Amino acid sequence: PADLYGASRRNSRGFNMANDADLHALAAQISAADRTWTATPLVPGFTAGSPDRGVTNPADRRQRVGAWQAADAALVQRALDTAVKAQPAWDRGGVEPRAQALLKAADLLEERRPELIALCVREAGKSLAAAIAEVREAVDFLRYYAQQARGQFGTPLTLPGPTGESNQLHLHGRGVFVCISPWNFPLAIYVGQVAAALVAGNAVIAKPAEQTTLVAHLATTLLHHAGVPAEVLQFLPGDGGTVGAALTSDARVAGVAFTGSTETAWAINRALAARNAPIAALVAETGGQNAMIADSSSLPEQVVKDALVSAFDSAGQRCSAARVLLVQDDIADKVMTMLAGAMAELVVGDPANLSTDVGPVIDEDARRTLQAHIERMHREARLIHAVTLPESVSHGCFVAPHAFEIPALSVLEREVFGPVLHVLRYRSRDLDAVIDQVNATGYGLTLGVHSRIDDTVEHIVSRVRAGNCYVNRNQVGAVVGVQPFGGEGLSGTGPKAGGPHYLARFASERTVTINT
Ligand code: SER
Repeated sequence: PADLYGASRRNSRGFNMANDADLHALAAQISAADRTWTATPLVPGFTAGSPDRGVTNPADRRQRVGAWQAADAALVQRALDTAVKAQPAWDRGGVEPRAQALLKAADLLEERRPELIALCVREAGKSLAAAIAEVREAVDFLRYYAQQARGQFGTPLTLPGPTGESNQLHLHGRGVFVCISPWNFPLAIYVGQVAAALVAGNAVIAKPAEQTTLVAHLATTLLHHAGVPAEVLQFLPGDGGTVGAALTSDARVAGVAFTGSTETAWAINRALAARNAPIAALVAETGGQNAMIADSSSLPEQVVKDALVSAFDSAGQRCSAARVLLVQDDIADKVMTMLAGAMAELVVGDPANLSTDVGPVIDEDARRTLQAHIERMHREARLIHAVTLPESVSHGCFVAPHAFEIPALSVLEREVFGPVLHVLRYRSRDLDAVIDQVNATGYGLTLGVHSRIDDTVEHIVSRVRAGNCYVNRNQVGAVVGVQPFGGEGLSGTGPKAGGPHYLARFASERTVTINT
């Protein structure tokens, strides 16, 4: 992975920390920025109107970041017509020009990183360190999928010929792929989905989350500059209920890559299934009710440090984030006391500031939903610590990080997508019951384990259904090509993003047998 701006360093609280002096200048620039951006649909032949949907900074709603124009139903049809026509030539042109375009796009993203970082901070409320890591991840996806595609799509696989014939297995694009991406990784996941679908030989129609249209628009223009034809990659910002629904109900769509809530994945799956059309591929990455389990052999200092990052980095708005810390009762009081102390050190505030650990949540709706959950927890659970919000954040969508001791996992009805950590103590003899409770949530995204007993680690890892298991460390920030990312059960369909099996799901296989 590229180490843009040295983002892999961590500060004393364990949060990602940049170490380049230039970053202080960048931080100052972002804070002071009065620059605004615009985004309109990118469909060949479409004349953009005036962007009428305003974007404001989640950290300070008085600050305008830009405006965008949504696509309408007619434009969806036009984009689909265009994509269907353009896809065969893109596919038949072979993998090399497609891989080259991804590699060129990676270079262009690196060149434009200050602006991309600024957009991640100002449009999505990402902390500066998280925004740096976000650009790095997007670049990594581009380079990784280009390299994987060359290996998998370059030369067909030659198979045995016991019948005296030659047999070859070719991979080619499925057709038109729709990519629907989330606001929490508005650049990395957007670019990752689009890059995978493109390099496999598909024409792509991309619909980013409504909240983060501007950064996705910039990334799309960079992919175009890198050589992806405008007909092959079209950009259709808009609401899920209109643009997303029109796309996923259309018989011409051969596949959908989606990252977001489990509920939306169900709706997409139903829409695809209701079509009188070839069965589409669905690659869905959804939510989690992620647990970290710490037994009495673990080091409380390390548990607390890793739980803190896992729960509160990116204001808890990662699908990988730890939602429940399960602690063996022998060390539970100590861990909770230390957790309260560590939380008191968290710096909540302006995400453009280098020392900020926790920035805003994405919007007012998210803030209200989280506040309602926190109020319910005050009634049904015991408060361990609540961070006091500084006055400086009163114009933003901030939620104070909270930790509660809960009586049972069942009090969490659904994924709580924000800076709230729930702690549950368990007795050694109840470990298997705890594992059953974790599995009973139906989700299976990330798992953290803290233990110095190898047998316990093995016992837990082999029984908890989770796509990404992290032992004696935090459980966020999967690295492309190193920690392929994605869940099981309600958390997603697989295959894993940033892993060696991802691209094949975007392709059709064709066996060619020749009687020689
Ligand atoms: N890929 C991200 C992570 O690992 C997903 O939230 O944290």
